[in-house]
Amino acid sequence: MPLITFSSPEYKDKTVYAVAGSFTETVLKIAKTNKIPIDFSCENGECGTCVIKVTQLGDNAPMGYHLEEKEKAILLELGKVSKDELEDMIVNDLPSKWRLACQFIPRDEDILVEY
Ligand code: FES
Repeated sequence: MPLITFSSPEYKDKTVYAVAGSFTETVLKIAKTNKIPIDFSCENGECGTCVIKVTQLGDNAPMGYHLEEKEKAILLELGKVSKDELEDMIVNDLPSKWRLACQFIPRDEDILVEY
């Protein structure tokens, strides 16, 4: 069962289980359910308010994730990724270390989410 550890300089770290069947839930939804105060606004991948840094924990190779065009555009606009980094992620099936919490649906791996 994957563990998601939420970490912020302003709050105590909190680790939650992403329970079975929750692989349709975004990190933002999981955070809200667990009363973790990630900032958000549009909840639709358009404002960038909910940007988070994601680190894969454990020994397994990190899973690649498909990013929708609007998320790529916001991450580029925020300067979190470059066009070259995006291309590298697509070609080599690598995860982005920056994601939008309202768009990111974690899978079966332990992750650290910094917000
Ligand atoms: Fe606006 Fe996630 S809340 S992009």
